[in-house]
Order: sequence, then C-alpha cells, then structure tokens
Amino acid sequence: MTKPLRIALTKGRLEKDTVSLFDRMGLDTEAIKQKGRRLILPVGDKLEVVLAKAADVITYVEHGVCDVGVVGKDTIAESDGRFYEVLDLGFGKCRFAVAAPAGTDVFGSYREITVASKYPSVTRAYFEQRGMDVRIIKIEGSVELAPLIGLADCIVDIVETGATLKENGLTIVEDVMPISARVIVNTAAMKLRKTAIETLVSQMEENL
Ligand code: PRP
Repeated sequence: MTKPLRIALTKGRLEKDTVSLFDRMGLDTEAIKQKGRRLILPVGDKLEVVLAKAADVITYVEHGVCDVGVVGKDTIAESDGRFYEVLDLGFGKCRFAVAAPAGTDVFGSYREITVASKYPSVTRAYFEQRGMDVRIIKIEGSVELAPLIGLADCIVDIVETGATLKENGLTIVEDVMPISARVIVNTAAMKLRKTAIETLVSQMEENL
C-alpha cells in the first residue's frame, strides 16, 4: 500500500472550514472530529492530517515532513515562500490593512513613522512599495494596543469584521492585501507524489 499523503492543517479558524470541505469530498473525518489531544489523524486510507499552528504548517511543508498544507495567505505572505501555492480555498477571508487613530497622517508625515505589526515583512514590503522608510516594531498579540499606548503611530494588522479596530478607536487608513486560506505543496513532493497531490487538489477545488 502506498504511504498516505500527509497534510498539515492550521488549527483554529481554518480547521472547521477545512474539515467541512473534507466532508464534502466524501472523506472520513471522524478521527479529526473526535481528536481529543491527538495531533496526527487518519482521514480515510489516503490521507493523514497533522494539526498545527499556521507558521508551523509552512515549516512542515518547507521541510517536506508534510506534503501539503492549508494555511492563510497572511502567514504565507510573511514567510520566504519555498513551496508552491496551488489553490485559493476562498474561506478564512479577511485582509491586511493599515490602521491608525483618526486624524493620524500616515502617508504625509515628514518624520519617520513607527508601525507596529505581527507581520514585519509584509509591513516592510508594503511601505517600501510606497517609497516610505518606516520604523517597524514587532508585536506578538493585540497590535491594536500599540497606537493607544504611544508605541506606534499606526499598525498593519488583520481586519475581519472591523470590530476590534472600532472598539479601540482606530480606523482603516488603507487596505494592504486580501487574505484567504490557501493550499501549499512541498516542492519535492510535487514531483515525487504528483498524481496523488493533483488528485487531492482537484477534488478540493471541485468541492469548494
Ligand atoms: C485578529 C487580528 C485582529 C482581529 C481582527 O486577531 O489581529 O486583532 O483578529 O478581527 P475583527 O476585524 O473581526 O475584529 P486574532 O483574533 O486572530 O487573535 P490574535 O491577536 O491572537 O492573532
């Protein structure tokens, strides 16, 4: 019997939508639904799921310990991208945006502005493309706090409903990039397990 394909799934927000997609594909998702604390779960006899944090999904796929991954474009955009991105799953939709307290002059200021973000590479690339040299401070959580306590002039963060910004008196200055869940594939696996991967990806696409 051939080895099952190993797919890394981002735990949390994307997990439910990915499992629903597997259900629509007719796969047996009982083990994922009853997972308890188990981290490697069989899905039928052709697929094995590893549940991981978003950044780790990319690490596993880059290192080839997982053939395929499901991860948000936000995490992909922040990574170096040594893998193939093959499919937009269309769920997990949100966006990167620049936000600041009302009245902040983000683009017209003559002094160097300070930007807080969990995504320094995305932030750097965005402001570089606008011809701006900015100071970036990496924050691990609740980035919205940074302008409120005087750490930064503005933030680059994920906006889904906009509720977090609103409740903290911040407004969107500009959208940076749309985000949704994507399927990524290890570069070697794409050659060595071509048929199995192509079959999986087209079944995913047909059931979106
Ligand atoms: C994200 C993001 C915002 C919030 C936006 O954080 O960093 O804080 O969601 O959502 P909204 O526009 O619907 O309010 P998340 O909840 O993923 O938590 P995190 O800070 O741990 O990343």
